[in-house]
Amino acid sequence: MEKIRIENLSIRYSDGNESLRNINLSLEANKISVLFGPSGGGKSTLLRTLNRLNDLADVQKVSGTVTLNGEDILSETVNVTKLRRKVGMVFSRPVALPLSIYDNVAYGLVMAGEKDRKVLDAAVEQALTQAYVWDEVYDRLKDPAHALSGGQQQRVCLARVLALEPEVILLDEPTSALDPVSTAKIEQTLQELKKEFTIILVPHNTQQAARVADFAAFFLQGELIETGEGEKLFAFPKDKRTEEYIEGRFG
Ligand SMILES: Nc1ncnc2c1ncn2[C@@H]1O[C@H](COP(=O)(O)OP(=O)(O)OP(=O)(O)O)[C@@H](O)[C@H]1O
Ligand SMILES: [Mg+2]
Repeated sequence: MEKIRIENLSIRYSDGNESLRNINLSLEANKISVLFGPSGGGKSTLLRTLNRLNDLADVQKVSGTVTLNGEDILSETVNVTKLRRKVGMVFSRPVALPLSIYDNVAYGLVMAGEKDRKVLDAAVEQALTQAYVWDEVYDRLKDPAHALSGGQQQRVCLARVLALEPEVILLDEPTSALDPVSTAKIEQTLQELKKEFTIILVPHNTQQAARVADFAAFFLQGELIETGEGEKLFAFPKDKRTEEYIEGRFG
């Protein structure tokens, strides 16, 4: 099922940099869609567009349309707070707040006005379970989140997003600060989460892209060069530039 549709999207920052040029892309629910390519290609810019985080950046011009469930999300009348609950984001370094594990996960709900302890307890347990970190933290929920390992903190950050019951989860190089074991845990978690959510991932490297992608899109200097099913695209890229990048000839 199509979840997000991007049509003729172009974005130019105030310094004149055109970071995305006429992007057309359809992203489906219950898949891991991977946006990959060399540095500066526009991957983060595209992710940030999907939950309007670019509103905070120095953007000069956005043109084209982006819809979520068929509804325009770039319109000025969109409730951005609501949109960001539906489209959650995990960043490359775990941004654990200087709070307990529990409060990190409950944060969004508390901010949204939830006060019922039972509701919060249930939401925290469910989100930590979904993020596959409950077993590692259930007996120390009051401990500071900063005391956890980087991999655990990243899953707690994922739980913070999940507690808001999003529909789409954006992840911008979520494992770049993690060791291989933690990285594998995050990748396994994503495989479970895709059953329920739409996952859009900017991978840490091409190997990760090939491991997890159900669908992949290759970006080069603001252009979308090629898309395809993960397995096919990585085994038989159509475009020479995609092939060269996958083979590691530039990066
Ligand atoms: N806030 C900003 N202001 C001005 N230019 C920006 C801003 N953010 C990104 N850019 C420019 O837009 C282009 C795309 O950047 P973006 O961060 O989206 O690329 P990326 O594919 O995520 O790269 P990386 O792999 O290094 O994270 C780059 O040329 C970058 O310099
Ligand atoms: Mg980036």
